[in-house]
Amino acid sequence: GGNPDRDGFVTLDACIMDEKYNCGSVAFLQKIKNPISVARKVMDMTPHVMLVGEGAYQFALENGFEAESGNLSDDAKNEYQKWLRTSEYKPVMNIEHKQSGFQSQSAPAKLNSGEINHDTMGIIALDDHGDLSGSCTTSGMGFKMHGRVGDSPIIGGGLYVDNEIGAATSSGQGEEVIRICGTHLVVEMMRMGKNPEEACKIAIERLLKINPEKANEFQVGFLALNKNGEHGAYSMHPGFTYSMTDNDSGGIVIKANSHFSI
Ligand code: GLY
Repeated sequence: GGNPDRDGFVTLDACIMDEKYNCGSVAFLQKIKNPISVARKVMDMTPHVMLVGEGAYQFALENGFEAESGNLSDDAKNEYQKWLRTSEYKPVMNIEHKQSGFQSQSAPAKLNSGEINHDTMGIIALDDHGDLSGSCTTSGMGFKMHGRVGDSPIIGGGLYVDNEIGAATSSGQGEEVIRICGTHLVVEMMRMGKNPEEACKIAIERLLKINPEKANEFQVGFLALNKNGEHGAYSMHPGFTYSMTDNDSGGIVIKANSHFSI
């Protein structure tokens, strides 16, 4: 269902990391429905961390994944047809509030499920043994250049897990996240004593510092979880939300604080 690149191909990126620093990643993978499962196989079955493109596809087939047609979903086809009318090379980035119309708030609040709108799925978890792990998966920016890879399959970019300290994941414009090794930075800030939201905020402030003029043009959001189970998020623009599930709550959606307001 993801939007294709500017040549009409859906290309997928994903990575996974466990509590022992094991990690696996695939990038620029086509025609395989669940890239995160291929990333898991890379982690579990190869001595490598990352496979890309045709090699990742061959590896997936050899490991029992089925090739999909690669056809676009109806929604993605419609979006692509609309984009083709101008074919302007300006990859679409997600600023969620512009799409869903919801209001910013100074404090995190519960949202209705219909208000959620993310392009990238990052998951970080603390299990019953107190071990952390995570994953991140995406079709990336809509109408990107063929071959473009974002932060989501990059360990330390879209995802980082350090079982002593915490885990972090990101969504939004991957180029900006890669530039600062974003999730690694968030975990290192937690190592220095910051709580998860503070650590995410420091990473957003780093982006603002290096890019003050452009920061109004892109969305990035970070989500973090520490070893004590405390969680938090912070984004450049309002509208970044995350779902939190634990034994008590059964699942709530939380709105992150952001640098800019509407
Ligand atoms: N964060 C997703 C991407 O930039 O591809």
